[in-house]
Amino acid sequence: MQYNFDEIIERRNTQSSKWDNVGARVGNPDALPMWVADTDFRVPYPVLDAVKARAEHPIFGYPFVTQDFKDATVNWVKKRHGYEMKPEWVVFATGIVPVFNTLVQAYTNPGDEVIIQRPVYHPFGFAIVDNDRVISDNSLIYKDGKYTIDFEDLERRAASPKAKLMILCNPHNPVGRAWTEEELRGISEICLKHNVIVICDEIHSDLMLFGHKHIPVASLDERYAMNTVTCYAPSKTFNIAGLRGSGIVVPNPEIRAKLEFQFKKNRSIQQNVFAIPAYVAAYEKCEDYVEQLLPYLEGNVKFLDNFLKEKMPKIKMVQPEATYLMWLDCSETGLSGDALAHFFVQEAKVAISRGDGFGPEGADFVRLNIGCPRSTLDKGLNMVLEQYQKRGF
Ligand SMILES: Cc1ncc(COP(=O)(O)O)c(C=O)c1O
Repeated sequence: MQYNFDEIIERRNTQSSKWDNVGARVGNPDALPMWVADTDFRVPYPVLDAVKARAEHPIFGYPFVTQDFKDATVNWVKKRHGYEMKPEWVVFATGIVPVFNTLVQAYTNPGDEVIIQRPVYHPFGFAIVDNDRVISDNSLIYKDGKYTIDFEDLERRAASPKAKLMILCNPHNPVGRAWTEEELRGISEICLKHNVIVICDEIHSDLMLFGHKHIPVASLDERYAMNTVTCYAPSKTFNIAGLRGSGIVVPNPEIRAKLEFQFKKNRSIQQNVFAIPAYVAAYEKCEDYVEQLLPYLEGNVKFLDNFLKEKMPKIKMVQPEATYLMWLDCSETGLSGDALAHFFVQEAKVAISRGDGFGPEGADFVRLNIGCPRSTLDKGLNMVLEQYQKRGF
């Protein structure tokens, strides 16, 4: 099937958080939404068909998790990432953000430390702090426009007797790194040595750009697999975040039992009736969609990069290896934090995600969602350019 990612689809008045809640969440109802991580692309046709087929049935009673959900997860990860898993390792969750809380509750106690690498997807920190655990921030190193891991600091943090868990983002939102085998082995060995369980959020793993290859941590070594919980979902790739379905892969039976017990305690496992039909259709029937989406996203990345280099050189794109979330270094404008957000959201009227939302390390940055038709990206960039020139940067 052929997809047209240039198609403009009106999303206002669809209870869209990105479009209809931009005023409350970003602070300007008239700003062009380029913030929260869903795309403005049509969902693949087989997914629409699966949802419509289920909607045709006149009863929406309680569903249960069927075997095809587990099989679809296993088949997809094998096909796309070459990692062979067992269906019984896969646990259903109604999204990855809610599961962070369950995982933190299952594997740590109040007061324990959980390692994250900021700037990073902010719900990692919420799950830690809201559950009375402590953030241990192994800040990424930013040098010459590239992010790397501070392994000495990681070792020190993992060695703390209170460190029980690490939440790793691979590929990393917002800095766009796809961690190399060497980096993943480095993290995994340190965590194994100090009995720190690794939660690996691989939600963006299908969105690999410019030849980068996704490496599931658990695929590298049986010992890592036994110490890892990996979170997958078709929601970013196929734009179905609103249907709430994710596959949590736990090879270690003891670690899996703890997760399942915590789900039971929280009574938080029940899915909606459309979640699994959409999930299975996406993973079983929509590989062609990803094959077309990736070059389109790469085109958007190049468009953005050229635009910035030619017209707004004081805003620099951190070269992404994956995801449609671009991390823009605005330090040369001299704006930071509130002033930087004001420039984008109130002056340019482009709704970005504030960099400091991902941790204090992000104060001079904004995150721009380029999962949109190129004409929308062009429009947003020109709105920023007008204000950039007005300011005389
Ligand atoms: C790294 C990461 N994890 C999880 C999520 C959201 O997961 P879910 O919608 O399944 O709760 C996002 C969404 O942006 C994300 O970027």
